[in-house]
Amino acid sequence: MNEIADLFSLKGKTAVVTGTSAGIGARLARTLVLAGAQVVAMARRTTHVDLPSSSPGELIPMNVDLGQRDQVANAARASLEALGGRVDILVNNAAFLAGGVKAEDESYEDIRHTLAVNLEAPILLAQTFYPGMRAAGGGSIINMGSIVASVGIGRLPQAVYSASKGGLEAITREWAAQWSRYGIRVNSLVPGFIETETTAPIINIEKIQEWILRNTLLPRHGQPADFDGALLLLASDAGRYITGQRLVVDGGWTAH
Ligand SMILES: NC(=O)c1ccc[n+]([C@@H]2O[C@H](COP(=O)([O-])OP(=O)(O)OC[C@H]3O[C@@H](n4cnc5c(N)ncnc54)[C@H](OP(=O)(O)O)[C@@H]3O)[C@@H](O)[C@H]2O)c1
Repeated sequence: MNEIADLFSLKGKTAVVTGTSAGIGARLARTLVLAGAQVVAMARRTTHVDLPSSSPGELIPMNVDLGQRDQVANAARASLEALGGRVDILVNNAAFLAGGVKAEDESYEDIRHTLAVNLEAPILLAQTFYPGMRAAGGGSIINMGSIVASVGIGRLPQAVYSASKGGLEAITREWAAQWSRYGIRVNSLVPGFIETETTAPIINIEKIQEWILRNTLLPRHGQPADFDGALLLLASDAGRYITGQRLVVDGGWTAH
C-alpha cells in the first residue's frame, strides 16, 4: 500500500455502526469493512451487505432495538466481547423519524421513541466504549446529524426529530471538548436530502423533488455512497487533527 492508502486504512481497527440494515448505515458499515475494519453492525433487522469475498475487514451483524435501554446495554457489552474488548470507531447512525406529523400533533410515544433511539442510545453507547478508547489512547466517534439541526424545514414536518439531531450535534462538540485530551475525536456527519428507503417515497414526489433540486447547488439527491469519503476521513488517521466539527454532505443545500 502507498502512504495515501495507508492514511485511510482501517486495518486492525474495530468499529460499531448502528442502523445498518438499510440506507446510509448499510453503506457506512460496508465502507468500514472495505477499509479493513472489523465491524459490529447493529439494527433490529439483520444486516445483509454485499461484500466482495476478499474484503479485508469483517462484518458482524447484531440484532438490537436501540429504543430499549436494556437491549442497548446488552448489545454494547456483546460488541466489546465480539471485538476483543475495544471499539476504535463508533458511528451513531440509527434514527427514528415520525415522518409527516405536524409539530402540534406529535404523540408522547413518538417523542419518547425519537429521543430514545436518536439521542439516548448514542449517549449510552459512547459512554460504554469511552473507557476502552481512553485506555487505548484514542478513538473516533461519528454522530449522524442532520441539516434540520441548523435550519427549519416546515415543509417536511419533523420537529422532535430536529431536536434530537440538534442535541446529538451539541453533545458531539461537548464530548470533543471533554475527551480530546485522551485522543478521542468526535465529529458529526451531516446529511442533506439522501435517497434511502425511508426518504425516497417523500423526496421523489414531483413537487418536493423540484423544490429540493432547485435549492441544491449540485442538483441531484444524495446517495448513501456519497458518504464514503467523508466517513473515511473522520474515521481514519487522515482526520487526526479534526474534532468537534460537523461535516455537511448536502450537495450545497445549506450553503446559500
Ligand atoms: N436520508 C436522509 O435524507 C437523511 C437526512 C438527514 C439525516 N439523516 C440521518 O442519517 C442517518 C441514516 O438515515 P437513513 O435515511 O439511511 O435511515 P433509514 O434508511 O431509515 O435507516 C435507518 C436505520 O436505522 C435503523 N433503526 C431505526 N430504528 C432502530 C431501532 N429502534 N433499533 C435499531 N436500529 C434502528 C434501521 O434498522 P431496523 O429498522 O432494521 O431497526 C435502519 O437500518 C440517520 O441518523 C438519519 O437521521 C438522513
